[in-house]
Amino acid sequence: VKVEYLNYEVMADRLWELSDDDLFEKAADGGLAPEDYGEFYVRESESLLEAAERQGYAWPFACRGGACTNCAVAVVEGEMPSPSSHVLPKELHDRGIRLSCIVAPETDARIVYNVKHLPAVQDLLL
Ligand code: FES
Repeated sequence: VKVEYLNYEVMADRLWELSDDDLFEKAADGGLAPEDYGEFYVRESESLLEAAERQGYAWPFACRGGACTNCAVAVVEGEMPSPSSHVLPKELHDRGIRLSCIVAPETDARIVYNVKHLPAVQDLLL
């Protein structure tokens, strides 16, 4: 399945919001570097984080086991269910926040990575 990604830091710099309906259209037209915006395919056996690394991207992580939230992403579109065990509070999970080290998309998806800099996630960082 295909994932379109955007770097949260770029988004925040440009004062774009996760709730913007045209967020990915603005990103596509934004002249962004490939590490900040683009798309790749995730293989069946991979986590989202592993797929990004296979493209050569250095997305943030620490534990790789669903325990630290450094690898958090926000799912803007698509299905990305979490395993039963993870450290995200229900409120953030309901807002589409996922841990890229332990999830993989079930459908084509649009995600913002690097959301550990999102204030609500920053509070959780270990
Ligand atoms: Fe720690 Fe994913 S790297 S939760």
